[in-house]
Amino acid sequence: MADADQKPPSSDCLRAENYPNPTDSATPSLHEWVSGEIAARGGVPFPEYLDIVLYDKQRGYYAKSQDQVGREGDFYTSVSVGPMFGRLLARRFVKGWDDAGNPHTWRILEIGAHDGKLAADILSEIRAFRPDAWQALEYAIAEPLPRLRDSQEKRLAGLATKLRIVTDSTELADNPLPGFAFGNEILDALPFHLVEFSEASWRELHVCAAAGKLFMEPRSIVPASPLAARLDTLGRDFPEGYRTEIRTNFEGFLDGLSACLVDGTMLFTDYGYAAPEYYDRSRTTGTLRTFSSHKAAEDPLESPGEKDITAHVDFTDLTNAAESLGLRPTVFSHQGSYLTHLATPLILEGEIGDVKSIAQFQSLTHPAHLGAGFHAIEFSVQGDTPPHVAHRIALD
Ligand SMILES: C[S@@+](CC[C@H](N)C(=O)[O-])C[C@H]1O[C@@H](n2cnc3c(N)ncnc32)[C@H](O)[C@@H]1O
Repeated sequence: MADADQKPPSSDCLRAENYPNPTDSATPSLHEWVSGEIAARGGVPFPEYLDIVLYDKQRGYYAKSQDQVGREGDFYTSVSVGPMFGRLLARRFVKGWDDAGNPHTWRILEIGAHDGKLAADILSEIRAFRPDAWQALEYAIAEPLPRLRDSQEKRLAGLATKLRIVTDSTELADNPLPGFAFGNEILDALPFHLVEFSEASWRELHVCAAAGKLFMEPRSIVPASPLAARLDTLGRDFPEGYRTEIRTNFEGFLDGLSACLVDGTMLFTDYGYAAPEYYDRSRTTGTLRTFSSHKAAEDPLESPGEKDITAHVDFTDLTNAAESLGLRPTVFSHQGSYLTHLATPLILEGEIGDVKSIAQFQSLTHPAHLGAGFHAIEFSVQGDTPPHVAHRIALD
């Protein structure tokens, strides 16, 4: 977001299918229902709260409309800047197809494709400049939300020779192909734990409810849990009251994607930091933000289901998860330098010469806009592809 996992909710109480029919006039608001369920359950960890308020299939923030991104929505992304982002990514994908020796069939799998705009930009570009690559391409989208699947199908009709929109990437695992799995601003949207350092130890914040009001309560960390293991690596040298976020779902997320690829690359563009900067002692309130009508705020319990809730990506943790699955990190770069590298041939060919395309390119790459806060990270699923971007910054 210029400035979440649709899995079944992990608790029994906060399951989307348990939510009453929203067309029934007696149906409570999401806030009323969530606070009632949370009160009955005695509190839930923060990722479970996010599962429902962002991804409930009927009233969750991402399910109930598709107007979150853009001028009329709550936040901008690189996609909102214009087609340039997709055009440049298209170049990266076709280079991968060329490097792989132009396999007869290849796949681009997009996660978090939203309304399909980025997919349309990428497909239009590939069709225009490399029809041979376009002919051989299967464009796949893993999209759990039915409303978004419908808009993606409509928008992309006729733009791809082979289009596969599936509910979950595991549906593609019976036919892994060479190519790419990628997502823009998907990682920051994955649910995360909230933790607080107090009296020389870490505690996890749970969302609790009483008398219709939601509040946070710090509780002991479950021993020997993935969260406990991550906190052990952070250590205990933190100021009293320090709050931050931890994701324990990267490995499962990446694993689902890597099963769809042979000899491929994963690419993510998102905002975040390598671990030393993320967990800097001065960042005492973490990176959690809510977005509504382009206003950032910090209270995730206010108006559940009405605002986006996000946290920056810990790229070191992501890389550790990838390496534990046998993936190899090949690129970690500021978005500005990553896209500039991809744009060089277009600039030389005069393809980025008109006022509109220059303005889009500048917004995507200038450090004061999206160029420095956003990063691109690539993982090789197999093989020995050398890093293709010179500007590489340390992850630890
Ligand atoms: C911040 S939006 C980014 C949308 C778009 N990629 C863009 O850049 O404009 C995050 C998107 O990720 C989707 N999402 C979150 N978790 C997902 C998952 N596990 N699988 C597929 N989509 C997911 C959300 O529904 C939402 O559409």
